[in-house]
Amino acid sequence: MTTNRTFTMIKPDAVANGHMGAILNDIISAGFKVIALKYTKLSEESAGKFYEVHKERPFYKDLVSFMSSGPIVAAILEKDNAIEEFRKLIGSTNPAEAAEGTIRNKYAKSIDANAIHGSDSDENAEIEGNFFFSADERF
Ligand code: TYD
Repeated sequence: MTTNRTFTMIKPDAVANGHMGAILNDIISAGFKVIALKYTKLSEESAGKFYEVHKERPFYKDLVSFMSSGPIVAAILEKDNAIEEFRKLIGSTNPAEAAEGTIRNKYAKSIDANAIHGSDSDENAEIEGNFFFSADERF
């Protein structure tokens, strides 16, 4: 088995609604090891940069504004097959379609405020982790 890493953010809606602790507990209970963790807030500029890949999508402006609207929790996580296992744990982008028991099923209200981010590839996990964490913030 190959252990690898993913990157996550608990989004402003989930933090504001008091789900930060429950979501971290779900993540750790599912067997993910926390490598790096930070409670922070994105500026509009940095949220815009983080989501640059979605620049041409119709929801980009609202997404940037939402992601910079309040504090978030950013983390690098480790588990065998981390990307796929974490996407399974969080569920579909649209919480209405997210499987029972997934984080988005339990804590998200809408497709735009969907509680949590999970990287979609090893390459993006690396880029996204580097966006938030320096080498000496990983343990
Ligand atoms: P995407 O990468 O498609 O989903 P995921 O987060 O599951 O990898 O989209 C990134 C984020 O953009 C998504 O979490 C929420 C937002 N979004 C919208 O606001 N409206 C939409 O129609 C879509 C597809 C995404």
